[in-house]
Amino acid sequence: MTDSPPQTRKGIILAGGSGTRLYPLTTGVSKQLMPVYDKPMIYYPLSVLMLTGIRQIAVITTPEDGSQFRRVLGDGSQWGLSLTYIEQPSPDGLAQAYILAEDFLDGAPSAMVLGDNIFFGHGLTEELNRAGSRPTGGTVFGHRVHDPQRYGVVSMDEEGRVTGIVEKPEVPPSDYAVTGLYFLDGRAPEWARKVKPSARGEVEIVSLLEMYLAEGSLDLARLGRGYAWLDTGTHASLLDAGNFVRTLQSRQGIQCGCPEEIAFEQGWIGAEDLRAQAARFTKTEYGQYLLRLI
Ligand code: DAU
Repeated sequence: MTDSPPQTRKGIILAGGSGTRLYPLTTGVSKQLMPVYDKPMIYYPLSVLMLTGIRQIAVITTPEDGSQFRRVLGDGSQWGLSLTYIEQPSPDGLAQAYILAEDFLDGAPSAMVLGDNIFFGHGLTEELNRAGSRPTGGTVFGHRVHDPQRYGVVSMDEEGRVTGIVEKPEVPPSDYAVTGLYFLDGRAPEWARKVKPSARGEVEIVSLLEMYLAEGSLDLARLGRGYAWLDTGTHASLLDAGNFVRTLQSRQGIQCGCPEEIAFEQGWIGAEDLRAQAARFTKTEYGQYLLRLI
């Protein structure tokens, strides 16, 4: 018997949910399509998957919002991607994404990012590649925050190995929040099916991660001081995220979360494709930036 070659990692962007914490802003438009300065929010998590080298991506949305995401992202071919749209009938938990995406994943390892998570930092690509190159087990990313009780939180031993994860604890075991980016191997859908819904009726991501932890195969990558992990959970933090992107972009003259740039750098699209993309945005700094890349 010969071993079959390892499958290429696929991506999931979880972009459903009701967005009630941002009402009335999100009464008509999905949270993950809200502006973060000059781009729809989903551009940022999409860029993270692209930086990992992932080209096959499932976008999970509510049934009502799917058409708007299609309008914004299309089939992904303009960025050398293949996008698949999956509907989540109701927001029954983050780990349900793996069950909904089971056919799409078809046994492949995955990287799932929450559609409202924004990452930025020097060395991020290296961290992503390290997680992406682990064929089995899982990797989560920890980031120090001042208000860990709002997130999933890790406990660690003296060597920094993760010993436990708890969702929104009243008394946090550490200051390290688990960010909304999860690299799991091909068993995730099968294991997600075994997760019993919690008291709040959700298939909890923490329960799925605990299975990897119990097996001893859950890695924690700590994102240090040089990284920004931006919150978009309140009106004020959404505005702060936009201002952060604006400051960064205008000061450094670079774009943060630009799928065209990453696709071009990865060699997935050529100069002519980039020029065609830029032609759509000529009236903006974004379009000018794309032209400067050529
Ligand atoms: O942002 C990181 C945090 O995300 C982690 O630290 C937590 O462990 C994790 O549970 C999650 O916490 P949140 O409080 O942000 O979870 P929330 O239920 O708000 O869902 C996060 C995003 O996922 C949100 O934009 C809506 C979307 N979502 C959520 C659920 C429950 C879905 O698309 N489908 C769902 O079923």
